[in-house]
Amino acid sequence: MVRISPRERFDGEFTLPGDKSVTHRAIMFNGGVDGEAVVSNALMGEDCVSTCRCLRALGAKIDVDGTTLRVKGVSAFRRGMELDCGNSGTTMRLLTGFVAGKKIDVKLYGDASLSARPMGRVAEPLSVLGADVKTTDGHAPLYVSPATIRGGEIALTVSSAQVKSALLLAGLSADGEVVITEPVKSRDHTERLLKAMGANLQTDGNTARIFKSTLHSVDVCVPSDISSAAYFMALGALKGKTLCKNVGINPTRTGILKAFERLGVKYFLHNTHISGGEATADILVEKSDMRGITLTEVDVPSMIDELPLVALLCAFADGESRIVGAKELRVKESDRIRTTTELIRNLGGDCEELPDGFIIRGKKTLLGGTVNSYLDHRIAMTGAVGLIASKNGGEIVHPECCEISFPNFFEMLGVDLRS
Ligand code: S3P
Repeated sequence: MVRISPRERFDGEFTLPGDKSVTHRAIMFNGGVDGEAVVSNALMGEDCVSTCRCLRALGAKIDVDGTTLRVKGVSAFRRGMELDCGNSGTTMRLLTGFVAGKKIDVKLYGDASLSARPMGRVAEPLSVLGADVKTTDGHAPLYVSPATIRGGEIALTVSSAQVKSALLLAGLSADGEVVITEPVKSRDHTERLLKAMGANLQTDGNTARIFKSTLHSVDVCVPSDISSAAYFMALGALKGKTLCKNVGINPTRTGILKAFERLGVKYFLHNTHISGGEATADILVEKSDMRGITLTEVDVPSMIDELPLVALLCAFADGESRIVGAKELRVKESDRIRTTTELIRNLGGDCEELPDGFIIRGKKTLLGGTVNSYLDHRIAMTGAVGLIASKNGGEIVHPECCEISFPNFFEMLGVDLRS
């Protein structure tokens, strides 16, 4: 448990850790090809450490020096391995697709939270492509056996970068074209990196097509994670002025900026440039009066991990907000519709749970209270923002789960976890 005090102002310049999605992919894809690559500004949160552990078990060598990784990959993975994916859905879902065409037996397992998350959503479309993936009642552990991958067209009913990526990775060894279409385009880091590594892959709107490909290693300089920056951007909007440096602004990830525009949050992008195939910018956010907003299904994929925070901002806005079409939140590290509703209510806000989202009646001031993270990193960090912006502050139960995606979060906030 950690005590968080309210603050009159929150100002500062912040350099956030590397992007979690890009780090996973840079380690995994380079770990699965014959060659060597350097991944710099990598996130060394627990989830990415899980990806390193799995790739090492499969035969890759990964040397870690701070946030710089030297990855020596192998295309022929070791057989019969049991891979511990920890808490990481990205590790488990992407790796399942990656190993599916490698003619090896693999077991993938994870912690209690990961074992409760749906895995049929990867196993089923992978089997349409000929993969042999068995789930345990739709969940982990997963058992992948040797199979021949064939081409096929798959129209996903849910936009999920993890599922799309698993299918594209299986498509690398398919006899025939694999075509994936999503209802709304999800983050496209897999497509960008695979193309940079020489994959025969084309994208057109919400559709990606891949043919059998041989990849080569590439060095990756990881931009800072907009999902981590979002907490400091929100504190700027609520309490002062913050500048987050070198943040990835891939258009499939910038839904938070769209939410800011609708809320009336003043933000400015500086130093916009392309680094390693991904756009980055410094994002300045200033204290703003916010108004209620509406978000629907089309808005969700580009801010999926930021929605608990956006809901919190709505609780501080003037007027009613409606967030719908977000039932994916129910199958994240916690049921984020339930845990976010509880968080806002425990701080004194007015939030109503919908099957697929929230109605939030903004109050401008929240009193504070106790937030249970339910061991979900995004809930813990959203709670910290809410408490700093509240009148009286309060406590977070199980704050340590921030290690998953943002190991020095509390340090950067100026909060001593031992307090
Ligand atoms: C991720 C995709 C998203 C996101 C997760 C990371 C990725 O999950 O919530 O934090 O790196 O591909 P879904 O694909 O399940 O939406």
